[in-house]
Amino acid sequence: MLDLRAQYESIASEIRAALDEVLTAQQFVLGPQGEALEQEVAEACGTRHGVGVASGTEALELALHACGVGAGDEVIVPAFTFIATGSAVSALGARPVFADIEPATFNLDPTQIETRITPRTRAIVVVHLFGLAADMDPILAVAAKHDIPVVEDNAQSIGASYQGRKTGSMGRAGCLSFYPSKNLGAYGDAGMVVTNDEKLAARLRSLRNHGQTGRYLSTERGWNSRLDELQAAILRVKLRHLADWTAARQAHARRYDVLLGDMPGITLPRVPAGREHVYYLYTIRVAGRQAKNGPGEVTPSDVVQQRLADRGIASMVYYPVPLHLQPLYASLGGKPGDFRVSERASREVLSIPLYPELTPAQIERVAQALREVLRG
Ligand SMILES: Cc1ncc(COP(=O)(O)O)c(C=O)c1O
Repeated sequence: MLDLRAQYESIASEIRAALDEVLTAQQFVLGPQGEALEQEVAEACGTRHGVGVASGTEALELALHACGVGAGDEVIVPAFTFIATGSAVSALGARPVFADIEPATFNLDPTQIETRITPRTRAIVVVHLFGLAADMDPILAVAAKHDIPVVEDNAQSIGASYQGRKTGSMGRAGCLSFYPSKNLGAYGDAGMVVTNDEKLAARLRSLRNHGQTGRYLSTERGWNSRLDELQAAILRVKLRHLADWTAARQAHARRYDVLLGDMPGITLPRVPAGREHVYYLYTIRVAGRQAKNGPGEVTPSDVVQQRLADRGIASMVYYPVPLHLQPLYASLGGKPGDFRVSERASREVLSIPLYPELTPAQIERVAQALREVLRG
């Protein structure tokens, strides 16, 4: 699915020089690399502030906490996303309230939000899944009507845009993950919250550092959640290449669109007008019989995945179990049929290899294998 070694080889000398600088300075936590990265990432996201933290998950936790989410509160979350979107809410003692997605974009359906708002709703988390922005205008409108902050889970979509605005810059806070496989990936865990709200940024800086507002002076309980200098130095090098890498992802996606466009039985990613997709993943839908969700059920995408594997081609199902059907959330009473669009997506999605260093020959080979499988 991914060849991180190929990417490393293309930037090894830059990375080693950057690491050398940190090793010479011997400052490893909260230093000049982190500060510079915060400014550079904030600028890339079209925001005024960036606050580096230890992971994308903690970016979500700290941002939600800083927006006032606490024990007993409710937070609206799409049912189809990576588990961290929900577990960040749970970690604060709050309850995720799931909402369904749009079939075409896999993102939160704006029409599914309002009926889930209660007096306990403290935030709405919007996920920009797979590299594509959610339909933000109607989401921001319903949030503004009820005076509820929107937190953007932008773990998968750095650089994507919606009507000329960057993902992560439209809500109260945007949360980034620099997990190694991400479009901008560290060599370990790291994350960031970006925001235009100066007060929120200051609070986040304190929260990530034990709630300290002065030297050994804590005003509230915080986290130890910092982005270290070695990761920051690596990310600064990689950020300089991000625009080129994103352009390569987009070019590869266009090639897949051409090679697979006439295949019956699959649906290719669709990009609504006014949005720029950054293709963290190239995710197709494999149509098939609509069975009930159940343990051991073989889905249409499982069949194609196995046949691609037989031909030496990797593919992955992101995500096979929607959040409301996760064992973690059994106590919330979710059951099959609650969120039909999410459940159907979990049976039909299949992501095929797409990363900047993929060669034209590799793209042809993946597409050819997929065509054979679908014809078979
Ligand atoms: C949509 C989404 N949210 C949150 C996260 C959590 O990020 P991290 O792995 O950096 O904690 C990820 C990635 O792993 C993700 O894909």
